[in-house]
Parts: sequence; C-alpha cells; structure tokens
Amino acid sequence: MPLDLEPVGEEFVARATGVDLARLLGEQDRQAIVAACDRYAVLVFPGQHLTPEELVRFGNAFGEVDTTLQKKLLNHVQNRLGMDTVTDISNVDAEGRVAGPDHWQTITTVGNRFWHSDGSYKDLPIRYSILNAVTAVEYGGETQYADLRAAYDSLDDVTRDLIADKVGVFWSHNTRDWLKIPDTEAERSAFPKARWPLVRTHPGSGRKVLWCDSKVWAIEGMPLPEGRALAHELIEHIGRREHVYSHKWQPGDLVMYDNRATVHRGRRFIHSERREMRRVETTDDVHSLGYA
Ligand code: OGA
Ligand code: MN
Repeated sequence: MPLDLEPVGEEFVARATGVDLARLLGEQDRQAIVAACDRYAVLVFPGQHLTPEELVRFGNAFGEVDTTLQKKLLNHVQNRLGMDTVTDISNVDAEGRVAGPDHWQTITTVGNRFWHSDGSYKDLPIRYSILNAVTAVEYGGETQYADLRAAYDSLDDVTRDLIADKVGVFWSHNTRDWLKIPDTEAERSAFPKARWPLVRTHPGSGRKVLWCDSKVWAIEGMPLPEGRALAHELIEHIGRREHVYSHKWQPGDLVMYDNRATVHRGRRFIHSERREMRRVETTDDVHSLGYA
C-alpha cells in the first residue's frame, strides 16, 4: 500500500499511513515522504513500534544520522540505549526505572520545553527529527509544533522590514543557562555560536520562514537587550495558537518533522508517569550563513 496522507487541522501537519517504517523503505516511499515533508512539515505515523536499530535505518534513508549532540553534550546521561545515533529522551534511568525530577536524565530534557528547532545553534544543523513513542503519559507531555512559514506570513509590515536583513546569533546554552542547568565550561563551549538570517527560504516549499527560537542569544547590529527582547517577541508571535499543532502521544506514534520549517516544544507532564521516547536526527547539508 502506498503512503496515504490525511491533513490534520492546521495545514502543516498530516497523518501518514500505509507504510511500515520498520521495514527497509523502498525508493518510492522515501520520495513520497520527502515530498510530504516539503508540503506539510510534520508527519504523524501511528502504530510504528520500531526498535532503535530500525529507527536509525529509517533516519538514514533521509541523510546522515547526527551523533554530535550525544557525543558533545549529553555525556552526563547514562546512555541506556548504548547508541550515539539514538537519543533517549525518556524520563527513565539507566536501570529502566522512572527517573525523578532531580535526576540528570530528566533535567537535561527540560530545555526541550522552550520553542526550538533542533540544532538551530549548530553551524550544520538538523534537517529532519524523528520521535518515536514507546510509552505515553496521561497528563500533558504533548509536543507542540509551530509553522514558521505561517508565522512569517502573519508578521506586520514594520516587523517584517525590521528583521529583513537581520542575523541572529544562536547558542546552545541560551536556554540551559537560563534554566541554570549546571553544565561544565567544556559543555558550554562545545558548540560555538552559529549565525543565521532571521528570514530564510524553506527549500522544500520555496516559502519564507521566520527563523527564530529560544536559542537566539543576540541579534547582530542591535543592542543586546533590544535584540533579546525582539527575539522573545518573535517567539511569542510564532507560538500564537493559529500557527500551532499540539500532538498528544500514543505508544507507537512516530512523528517526523522538518526543522527548517517548524519549531517545537515539549509540554510539562507528571514526573511519576513513564514517558519513554526515542529520537533520531538527520544532519542538514547547508552551513548557517549559506541559508538565505
Ligand atoms: C526533542 C524535543 C520534545 C518532547 O527531542 O528534540 O524537543 O516533547 N522533544 O519530548
Ligand atoms: Mn527538540
């Protein structure tokens, strides 16, 4: 059966059925998924219970699977899965028990609660991210996605002119410092700051995107406070309800999203509930200022 797409509410999300992602992907299905990501940006595949190895193979069909975050920043985390290619974003400790709010595994994922595009702080960022839910929580724990193309389109003219030629400085620790996550100096400098135009063209759709997230540490050519306040306003604009889809997870859901056209954030949940999720990310092939 070929890939079947059913739009979900907002126009940048589709529910995708008809393919078993645990199997080796045929070229036709692969191309159909890329085209769907170009058209939508967020694809929800229900009922996909993949092993970590199958998840990596699926990701590999769309580019090189990223390992830099695991190697450079997440080395505090007891790597339960034992793979650099799969990030364990669960609240589960190395022994497989639910980790409490003060466990490092839990703390390090708190940064995901701010609007961000994966790897926006890296010179060579992330193209697609793939999240696969093993278990889901009752209360909260949604992942929300916002459409950066719609966010650009709904800017007022003065703001659009103001940001037209601006470059943002993105830093991994903009949020982690704010949260006072006690990372070492080596971790804080593991990723040098990246520079990105605040307005870019999404290659898949040819539409402009408002490229701003919680990693924006400064805006070049603006006083630091003014730039940081503007970044905050732009993020609030991006997160307006009409730009947002909220995904309530079911076990086996696999969500693939294009980081070049969206930001996302994880929502609060109750720490005693088991939220077991795995993530694979593919590396983009365009360095920061190459993306205009
Ligand atoms: C991520 C992320 C959000 C969530 O893994 O990149 O942002 O809801 N996750 O877990
Ligand atoms: Mn993320």
